[in-house]
Amino acid sequence: MENIRIPRIMRETSKRHLHNGRTIGFVPTMGALHEGHISLIKRAKSENDIVVVSIFVNPTQFGPNEDFDKYPRDLERDMEKLRKEEVHILFMPDVGAMYPEGFSSYITVRGLSDKLCGVFRSGHFTGVATIVCKLFNIVKPTAAYFGQKDFQQAVIIKRMIEDLNMDVNLIICPTVRENDGLAMSSRNVYLSKEERIAATVIFRTLLSASQAIKSGITNPVDVSKHMHDMLMAEPLISEIQYAGVYDVNTFDELNEFKKQNLIAVAVKIGSTRLIDNIIVEF
Ligand code: PAJ
Repeated sequence: MENIRIPRIMRETSKRHLHNGRTIGFVPTMGALHEGHISLIKRAKSENDIVVVSIFVNPTQFGPNEDFDKYPRDLERDMEKLRKEEVHILFMPDVGAMYPEGFSSYITVRGLSDKLCGVFRSGHFTGVATIVCKLFNIVKPTAAYFGQKDFQQAVIIKRMIEDLNMDVNLIICPTVRENDGLAMSSRNVYLSKEERIAATVIFRTLLSASQAIKSGITNPVDVSKHMHDMLMAEPLISEIQYAGVYDVNTFDELNEFKKQNLIAVAVKIGSTRLIDNIIVEF
């Protein structure tokens, strides 16, 4: 595995591969890699000649009271996992190389960025869109792989690609879960033993909502109420940020079901913020 830290060298390496007719599959990450990340890497490997994984804990997507400083970092283990997957290139830039003094250009995908998680994480999606745009310009991927776990993020990046005429094929991959259904996340390590058990209520709530819809509840508002009731019954949930049925394209709360319906949840368990979603189709 080639280990590249300098953006210019990454760009030149990618240019060379593209010039030689190779496709580049790209998986952007913030490290602390788990099976969710690995599933994206495996998919990228199966569809491309060269696979690039980036590890960069992006400061601009963390709010002032968020967990940038304590975000889990474990480079040795990450590199071991990437080598095992036979990833070709690890791109791991320094913060100073990505945001040098004088940096002043940001990308905001309007509208979509202010819904769902955007309500509670002001500026977060501008940080995400900006770093992903920079990474795309440096890595020059043919295809980029994102997880459905962060569905809003993937849709926002898709919008950015379309709006700014970027030449990248975005592929959204299924959420990988623990045996008890909890979506894998680098932040799950923050949970105490009791909180980890309590966290299973999130996926149970999504499944229960899905069953309610399929068994004939006709009003999304009733589904949303049912979800809130289930989440509220778990004492370790300290805050429900949102829980309900949303339009998969606009993220507006639905008044009536559509062909595709996004069932999504964001809660805090103790001080740890967790999100999850499923899409229910008719
Ligand atoms: P990170 O949280 O490290 O996630 C990297 C990628 O892995 C994202 O596309 C995310 O959706 C996907 N992922 C995370 N958990 C997953 C799971 N359980 N199953 C499937 N895929 C999963 O998302 C980010 O980093 C950053 O915002 C980034 C895009 C790298 C920009 O900084």
